Amino acid sequence: MDNKKTEQLKEYTIKNESNHGLTTNQGLKMAEDEFSLKAGLRGPTLMEDFHFREKMTHFDHERIPERIVHARGVGAHGFFQLYESLEEFTRADFLTDPSKITPVFVRFSTVQGSRGSNDTVRDVRGFATKFYTDEGNYDLVGNNIPVFFIQDAIKFPDFVHAVKPEPNTDIPQGATAHDTFWDFVGQNPETAHMVMWAMSDRAIPRSLRMMEGFGVHSFRLVNAAGRAHFVKFHWKPVLGVHSMVWDEAQQIAGKNPDFHREDLYEAIDKGQYPEWELGLQLIPEEEEHRFDFDILDPTKLWPEEEVPVRRVGKMTLNQNVSNFFAETEQIAFHPGHVVPGIDFSNDPLLQGRLFSYTDTQLSRLGGPNFHQIPINRPVCPFHNNQRDGMHQMTIHEGQTSYHKNGLNANQPAPVPAEQGGYAHYQERVDGRKIRGRSDSFLDFYSQAKLFYNSLAPYEQEHVRMALRFELGKCKSSMVKTNAVALLNQIDRSLAQEVADHIGAPLPAENLEVKSDKKSPALSMANTVLLPD
Ligand code: HEM
Repeated sequence: MDNKKTEQLKEYTIKNESNHGLTTNQGLKMAEDEFSLKAGLRGPTLMEDFHFREKMTHFDHERIPERIVHARGVGAHGFFQLYESLEEFTRADFLTDPSKITPVFVRFSTVQGSRGSNDTVRDVRGFATKFYTDEGNYDLVGNNIPVFFIQDAIKFPDFVHAVKPEPNTDIPQGATAHDTFWDFVGQNPETAHMVMWAMSDRAIPRSLRMMEGFGVHSFRLVNAAGRAHFVKFHWKPVLGVHSMVWDEAQQIAGKNPDFHREDLYEAIDKGQYPEWELGLQLIPEEEEHRFDFDILDPTKLWPEEEVPVRRVGKMTLNQNVSNFFAETEQIAFHPGHVVPGIDFSNDPLLQGRLFSYTDTQLSRLGGPNFHQIPINRPVCPFHNNQRDGMHQMTIHEGQTSYHKNGLNANQPAPVPAEQGGYAHYQERVDGRKIRGRSDSFLDFYSQAKLFYNSLAPYEQEHVRMALRFELGKCKSSMVKTNAVALLNQIDRSLAQEVADHIGAPLPAENLEVKSDKKSPALSMANTVLLPD
């Protein structure tokens, strides 16, 4: 089924079967493409061979930098349709008109490995969706796990350095357990909750079609009257959630490193279109402090018993890409791509992400005009006073490009909110400038415990086996001791079993504490809080 985006992409599609003959990039027909130009049949190649140089130069530059994280991915096109209007909560056009079919592109990914790594490794999966709405692109850049390892974006480079192969050896690649990761975990106990998810079956999905997706952060929905709700986004797979067992995942990794991408491609190719329902958890703005956790803390989920997930629409993926590089590789997601009616919260991880994505894409996609690449173009018109830059594809006519332009009445002017312009939610903010973390972020273990206790016995068994396997690979006794101490905060028998297996000491029982709320050192690190 064609939609606005696939129609738009057709304009840029060139079929490889061309009847025009082989030409250079300047349109020059070439009489020969197998032999370089030489001085004599057995002589040296000549510098003047412009055809050889053009062909080789283009080939030499075929690779662009891979994503610093989520490098290995697979994508597909589809569409989203709403069940019923959400105008009570948001003014976003694609969330208020149930008759509207919004084109989407989804890219699934692993986080740690390089582009050439294995599909079925134990890892978090990225689940990024671009909605090509009539009001501009909206990106829901999520994962298949509802929480994250860290609370503040400034730690992300440290976290990723601890997870990626070590700089001296480049080992391990695509593997999962090593001293740097577990050292990071031991030194940063806020990781406890996500680590339990990562050691569970959730981190080895059976199929990308059988994974949940989560926006992770609290965002805001704002309706036409300006009333706001905090929101968490969910994708619920219609096929249900299914995982592999670890041994199976490892064997498949050895036999077919492309298992997940092949599964997705074939399902779509055969017309077995994967579907997800979009779910929303909503908390009215005035109830921000109703919970025993901070809703701005990305290491916390909102228990579904307390805040039910409302299913509001369905996404169907029904078209494979025509060209992996042009679409899946060149797509650029960004949590800051929002539309009127969707806004941010002060989650300090989200706030940092809002800087990081465009910044990385400037180098990954070679300059500031990557929004003009066909897969990234919105399906609605875009027009502003930006100009020039590397790889500019648009020919801007006219003399001027600045605001309040007195010489050109047709220059683009800002659009008032009532006419569809984006106006930021006017949240009141008042505070000291300070580096630190609110004490409400210091309960690291309650939800980690909740998660472990909610698992069926066989699922708990899988977590225990995963921890034995992963920590068993660590060499440093300090790293193992710290990891066991962290597990001891979550479940003593779990810590005991892992400690016995990896030969690490189990802390005395009385060291167990419910949270570190009483430790100001943890919240403020090296910052001295001045009296008001
Ligand atoms: C990709 C940064 C946390 C989901 C990326 C990329 C960067 C990045 C630099 C590569 C983007 C590109 O090259 O196009 C960060 C930072 C984070 C953070 C600084 C925390 C401060 C998260 C979280 C989630 C997430 C919490 C999930 C909710 C993703 C996904 C991709 C991605 C799905 C891959 C997008 C694609 O398929 O192209 N991130 N990230 N990230 N990130 Fe994050």
